[in-house]
Amino acid sequence: MLNVNSFRKMKKNGEKIVMMTAYDAVTSTIAEQSGVEMLLVGDSMANSILGYKNTIALSLDESVFHTSAVRRGAPNTFVVADMPFMTYQNTESEALKNAARYLQVCDANAVKIEGGDANTVALISRMTSCGIPVVGHIGLQPQKLLTSGTYKVAGRTEEDAARLVAEAKAIEEAGAFALVLECMPEAVAKIITESIDIPTIGIGAGIYCDGQVQVITDVLGMGSFIPKHAKQYANLNQIIAQAVGSYVDEVKNKKFPTIDNSF
Ligand code: KIV
Repeated sequence: MLNVNSFRKMKKNGEKIVMMTAYDAVTSTIAEQSGVEMLLVGDSMANSILGYKNTIALSLDESVFHTSAVRRGAPNTFVVADMPFMTYQNTESEALKNAARYLQVCDANAVKIEGGDANTVALISRMTSCGIPVVGHIGLQPQKLLTSGTYKVAGRTEEDAARLVAEAKAIEEAGAFALVLECMPEAVAKIITESIDIPTIGIGAGIYCDGQVQVITDVLGMGSFIPKHAKQYANLNQIIAQAVGSYVDEVKNKKFPTIDNSF
């Protein structure tokens, strides 16, 4: 299995890193077989598959439950657990205890936390000094939705871009082994990627990042809308609706089951 050093090496060698979210064992198995190198059990599961309106509502228990399932389906893939809102911002000891649960109970390889402010950087430093591998996450931070009011591209002004570069450097210094860059101008992501030695994994951050991460329901065309930064590689909404519709139709019209499906 790849480890934290593998990703740094991939950056050094100019080899792109493929990360994708997964929330269950069925899809993590397919992702592992398809060559995804890093699985993110994103808190995006809240709105992608659990029916919440945003990521704020997701609990630690729900995330732990899904992270364990992802690991069971993909025993040989590097798994990153995304720590939900307020599971790491309260006290340091609570954050460490919650992060350790992912490593010890779910057999995850690392945790991801959002933010580049001084408190988050200090927490990353403490986590890594305890032996907890951390992926940072800057730019658009969905867990800040209620204070920002809207999902907004970060780093559009010179000042904000400089803030992002400084945050990235501080997160690397604190010991994170990778950094997610969400929704920022490609030029800013390029500067960040060239300014740090740990790999950047972009979503809506352009081509110059060391890797890319996508949300599985966007890739499969299962969401209610596809964000600008995503690419839909299939239309499962349509395929599933057709299959389920055919099943309903055949039961109603006594075409299923046939003798082949009976004992
Ligand atoms: O939860 C998630 O899916 C994420 C990605 C958008 C990086 O954090």
